Amino acid sequence: MDLYIDTANLDEIRQAADMGVLDGVTTNPSLVAKENADFHDRLGEICEIVNGPVSAEVVSTDHDGMIAEADELIKIADNIVIKLPSIVEGLKACKTLSDRGVRVNMTLCFQPLQALLVAKAGAFLVSPFVGRVDDISGDGMEIIQQIRQIYDNYGYDTKILAASIRHPLHIVNAALIGADVCTVPFKVIAQMMNHPLTDSGLKKFLADWEKTKSQKSSKQPAMA
Ligand code: G3P
Repeated sequence: MDLYIDTANLDEIRQAADMGVLDGVTTNPSLVAKENADFHDRLGEICEIVNGPVSAEVVSTDHDGMIAEADELIKIADNIVIKLPSIVEGLKACKTLSDRGVRVNMTLCFQPLQALLVAKAGAFLVSPFVGRVDDISGDGMEIIQQIRQIYDNYGYDTKILAASIRHPLHIVNAALIGADVCTVPFKVIAQMMNHPLTDSGLKKFLADWEKTKSQKSSKQPAMA
């Protein structure tokens, strides 16, 4: 499973990239708004840190506006992926861009039929928002499961990107279902290698090793 970070914050992206397991980045207008940075400049900076796909979202809601924005965004770097909303105009723009060889991430996906249509339109990624469905007492993971089955039934290549991840268990479940990618906030990435038994176990190993070292040195013969 590929791991993307869901942020436009450079420090977070650098820290995650330093872990050596980061495959890409997703941004959205809300994440960029937190950064107080020029949108295009920030995307350029992100693309210098990460070679993998970097999703950049348009804010137009009509086909032609989306294409015009996409044309500017793809000039930033070769790894820019155009993020479009899962609405009819977005679907049309997805088809136009995909036919031109531009990679598209269809976002704000909340039901499997949106995922079916965007796959038919050639999307590179589809982003079902797990956490936002859970937030309103739905089952976000069930949507990932349904999309997985539909894509496998028909052999669609579109990658399922589990988005709106709130906690580590979301990632475990997405991986068990077979989501191709998870995009994860930095706070949750930081939790992925943590376990209290690892910490206490390591503490004990190191303490025992110190004892071993002192036993060895006390057995050393005194130098003549
Ligand atoms: O990048 C889109 C997505 O991951 C949004 O997450 O937490 O705003 O629902 P959230």
